[in-house]
Amino acid sequence: MYNGTELPDVLFEYDHLFLIDVLHHVPVAQQAAFLKQIYAKMRPGSKLILKDIDAARLVWCSFNKLHDLMLSGEIGHEWTFARALTECQRIGFELVGSQKKRTLVYPHYTLELVKR
Ligand SMILES: C[S@@+](CC[C@H](N)C(=O)[O-])C[C@H]1O[C@@H](n2cnc3c(N)ncnc32)[C@H](O)[C@@H]1O
Repeated sequence: MYNGTELPDVLFEYDHLFLIDVLHHVPVAQQAAFLKQIYAKMRPGSKLILKDIDAARLVWCSFNKLHDLMLSGEIGHEWTFARALTECQRIGFELVGSQKKRTLVYPHYTLELVKR
């Protein structure tokens, strides 16, 4: 169970972790630390699949902001694909795959990342 601050140690038991449309909901000041904590809890050799909205696709990204504003009352803090990749590599992740794909009005990137 996640208490909002400390991610559970059980992450160490998984081969694959999925973070889908969560990162842009995390407060800006905590986003990098959130990813760092995931990395720290992961087992070497395990994978993180990080999928989120690509802020570089400005017009499409604004549909996601509108969606979040209507459904959760907040504006998302989306990163660009390039920023997500840079931050993850800085943390120590190795990129083994990536994809950019828009579904309806939602422009997603997906990073397939390994902790070595
Ligand atoms: C669009 S939903 C994504 C759901 C997710 N893909 C799943 O399968 O559960 C956004 C999620 O971000 C979570 N969230 C919002 N703020 C967060 C925060 N500060 N830290 C971690 N998760 C957060 C919400 O609880 C919600 O489940």
